[in-house]
Amino acid sequence: SKDSCVVFTVLGASGDLAKKKIFPSLCNLFEKKILPPTCQIIGCARSSMTTQQLADKSNPFMKAKNKDVLTEFWKRVSYVSCGAYDKAEGFITLSDKIEEFEKSHGGEKRFRLFYLALPPAVFIPVCTQLKNNCWIQSRSKSLEKFTSDRYTAECRVIVEKPFGKDLESSNQLSQAITALFNEQEIYRIDHYLGKEMVLNLMILRFGNELFRSVWNRERIACVVITFKEPFGTYGRGGYFDTNGIIRDVMQNHLLQILCLVAMERPVSVHASDIRDEKVKVLKFIRPLDLDDVVLGQYTGNPDGQTEDSKLGYRDDPGVPNDSKTATYACAKLNIDNDRWAGVPFFIKCGKAMNERKAEIRIQFKDTPSDIFGSKCKRNELVIRVQPDEAVYCKMNVKSPGMSFEAEESELNLTYHERFQDMDLPDAYERLILDFILGTQTNFVRTDELAEAWRIFTPLLHKLDAGAKTPVEYPYGSRGVASADDFIRDSGFKFSGTYKWTAAKK
Ligand code: BG6
Repeated sequence: SKDSCVVFTVLGASGDLAKKKIFPSLCNLFEKKILPPTCQIIGCARSSMTTQQLADKSNPFMKAKNKDVLTEFWKRVSYVSCGAYDKAEGFITLSDKIEEFEKSHGGEKRFRLFYLALPPAVFIPVCTQLKNNCWIQSRSKSLEKFTSDRYTAECRVIVEKPFGKDLESSNQLSQAITALFNEQEIYRIDHYLGKEMVLNLMILRFGNELFRSVWNRERIACVVITFKEPFGTYGRGGYFDTNGIIRDVMQNHLLQILCLVAMERPVSVHASDIRDEKVKVLKFIRPLDLDDVVLGQYTGNPDGQTEDSKLGYRDDPGVPNDSKTATYACAKLNIDNDRWAGVPFFIKCGKAMNERKAEIRIQFKDTPSDIFGSKCKRNELVIRVQPDEAVYCKMNVKSPGMSFEAEESELNLTYHERFQDMDLPDAYERLILDFILGTQTNFVRTDELAEAWRIFTPLLHKLDAGAKTPVEYPYGSRGVASADDFIRDSGFKFSGTYKWTAAKK
């Protein structure tokens, strides 16, 4: 509103995430005129730099085609060096800069928003400095400077993964953060929650009577959630080797999707109601053990088309030669509640695979009696998260023409066909807007995070101790072949007789 003043600070402004995602997202919001008109942006990092230098780093990643938009956007940004992340001085300078804007803008409602695009080692020191120096309620010195005795600000912070390495370290981190800020001030980002088709799950499930009565163990045979990327970890090996694919993608992005597929109907769409249901369904999931996963690690493909594809995971200079870190994982989760008991949920993810794809596949049971000569294949409802966003349902129909044979086809809702000229915002763009508006629905709550780690920690500890060696798979392949058997043995039926193809754009 007009009487509010928003100052959005990006800490770690010189880093990769800031230049590739945060500034471009802010610029998109600015271009669409969604960014509050009074919003000022501060880029902050240790080194000294000019705002122009910051702009030069980020501009290659901007979507805006119009140069004037970029020029106007960067006028809203100023750079402040905070020096050491654990010293008060730089944060006092930062706070003074924020106050300067607040004073010049006036306005009764003040919002101080901080995006921590920083490595985990400095989370706590930075949060501490922010709390001591920039959280307006706690800085009595700044209060004295203002004549208005009603001067307060709503302060919020976005934090990025990794949120710890296991349940214990994550709890320690959460304790340290919650000692400084209250839950309403903490926004743990999981960018998959900002993707169009992930957000769509709630409406698909709870806005369509068609699905309500079949969304359970009576009708559903299994659920498979898949994430594939066609590139390796090259250049990120150091980070990746200490984490592995389970911590990188599965424990967060894929588990969040699983929650939205499996949770009960929330009382309302309010953040606390939705997050309550996610926590509840997580509590029904048994912790994983070694037998619940198939693991893989990619090797170089000598016939690969690109230089990258000739290199295996262990060829990365940041990766030890004897690394047992998984770059592919397929896990089976069981949800022991009335709705899902006995229905396996598979989550599969891999780097250096044959394609880029993320999807949710809900496979229904066989029709009780197939009078069409066993031609009917199982129905599947597929939500394609990316690329080519779509929702389709594999169906059996009469083969067109004179015959009376069953044939597989689909009910198909391909987004770019149905919604022409749509503009699907980047996940970061949407979540940054939520953050500015103070909507916590699509951010991860402390108890939710703890439940997610509870499920994976026993397995991760065993894997960290080297209890399972991943199976090798070649760069550019479908991953570990035995994962197909693993899924099939648990009730998934793959007929291979039908393939959905995206309509041409
Ligand atoms: C990140 C992971 O969280 O998500 C990366 O650290 C992964 O390893 C990325 O590549 C995938 O995100 P997206 O939006 O490109 O599917």
